[in-house]
Amino acid sequence: MHDINEQLEAKRALARLGGGSKRIAAQHAKGKLTARERIELLLDEGSFEEWDMFVEHRCAEFGMQANKPPGDGVVTGYGTINGRLVFVFSQDFTVFGGALSEAHAEKICKVMDQAMKVGAPVIGLNDSGGARIQEGVASLGGYADVFQRNVMASGVVPQISLIMGPCAGGAVYSPAMTDFIFMVKDSSYMFVTGPEVVKTVTHEEVTAEELGGAGTHTSKSGVADLAFENDVEALLMLRRFFNYLPLNNRDRPPNRPSGDPAERLDLSLDTLVPDNANKPYDIKELILKVVDDGDFFELQPDYARNIVIGFGRMDSQSVGIVANNPMVLAGCLDIRSSIKAARFVRFCDAFNIPVLTFVDVPGFMPGTSQEYGGIIRHGAKLLYAYAECTVPKVTVITRKAYGGAYDVMSSKHLRGDVNFAWPNAEIAVMGAKGAVEIIFREDKGDPAKLAAREAEYKARFANPFVAGARGFIDDVIQPHETRKRICRSLAMLKDKKLDNPWRKHGNIPL
Ligand code: HXC
Repeated sequence: MHDINEQLEAKRALARLGGGSKRIAAQHAKGKLTARERIELLLDEGSFEEWDMFVEHRCAEFGMQANKPPGDGVVTGYGTINGRLVFVFSQDFTVFGGALSEAHAEKICKVMDQAMKVGAPVIGLNDSGGARIQEGVASLGGYADVFQRNVMASGVVPQISLIMGPCAGGAVYSPAMTDFIFMVKDSSYMFVTGPEVVKTVTHEEVTAEELGGAGTHTSKSGVADLAFENDVEALLMLRRFFNYLPLNNRDRPPNRPSGDPAERLDLSLDTLVPDNANKPYDIKELILKVVDDGDFFELQPDYARNIVIGFGRMDSQSVGIVANNPMVLAGCLDIRSSIKAARFVRFCDAFNIPVLTFVDVPGFMPGTSQEYGGIIRHGAKLLYAYAECTVPKVTVITRKAYGGAYDVMSSKHLRGDVNFAWPNAEIAVMGAKGAVEIIFREDKGDPAKLAAREAEYKARFANPFVAGARGFIDDVIQPHETRKRICRSLAMLKDKKLDNPWRKHGNIPL
């Protein structure tokens, strides 16, 4: 007994050492934490239950049989974040660069399978050189096993990836199929192939940072949702983020009581929208003033900034917020913003999180670059996402709701449950100027007449009452009472039930 205990402790100590103290020091020198240190910070203190510490790879090629670090480069198990269950895997870069072997993949699959059985999220802390080269096709098979589980878990339990080192090859495709990707600035990279291969194939010279750093993926590609300064900030923010999410698709999002009264009024909102309809204003100011305690967790803030997405709480309940942003491209819908918002709406819908939409949209972005890029197909993604969405939907039109974009942005016609408009809302096919230039083309040479027509059109359509007369909006509300009216609507919608017809799956225009 004594012997076996000693053996156990020796094995545990060896596993904890990963790739050895020299490689741990190198990891620290890069400003990175080790796989275990990361788990300790992410989970509630003392809550981590580790599995498969003694798993070893089975590779006998290239002298690998002499080098079998217990755990095989990934720390797996479960624990809690603020008392709520979560499964984790954390790749250990000090062991073969965190590269994925068959055994390493089996460990990840085991926690994913268990998470699915008990209905708990999976968080992956990724720091991996991809498929373990010495294992060849066995490691490729391992990746495919993980991919298959990513897909089966999609929409069943939330999956979150934190990229904390270089991630290449297979190491990016598993995160790509999870719900959210967060990165760490200056130490994490994601690319299908690294700069060396790029140079060989396309003759482009590009640094790792330019090719797949956090800046690239949060502003250019939109692959990542957020980037943080360092490992510690990333892990602490991930804990905060976790609090918005339900554990699975049958769960309700957690209620986090707030002292912020649901009926709170904010008079400053009455002057938020400028008198001049062409002047921008900051939609984030509205969001911050409406949500509980001004606490808004924005996602993709540097990508497709003409639409804002993120989580907040209304009267203690998580909500997903989508808002056109008049500060960027006048808040119009283009390819990127449509895709950004569509994916977010679908996440909320899959996980029972109500969707709150603030609308100030002049329409879809015109032009060849958008048309050639497929705005028809991509814009349709957002339309599709809102139309299939069955969670509570509350919409507030703060100013413009023009054209197809009016329909798309959670309108009554797409089963919006409660649709409000502020008094200065303009709900019409298009802005007054464009409208009269088309329907009164014959007056083009007469500016005075055209101006009179424009004023007439404005008086007739630049208000919320035409839509109100048809019941397309449920009420015209004063800006200062926005929070109160939304909270009441969400309380009314708490037990909403709406099912889409049975089908294998829809065919969203991908
Ligand atoms: C085995 C690997 C490895 C890998 C790194 N290592 N990647 N071992 N398989 N894929 C080992 C290194 O040999 C080294 O071992 C240690 O990890 C640290 O690596 P370094 O190169 O010293 O670190 P760094 O300079 O920080 O560079 C990290 C890196 C680089 C950018 C990840 O190692 C790299 O480019 N690796 C190869 C990436 C790659 O092409 N992977 C295969 C992708 S194909 P020692 O003993 O020296 O510490 C793929 C297919 C799946 O994934 C596709 C599915 C769709």
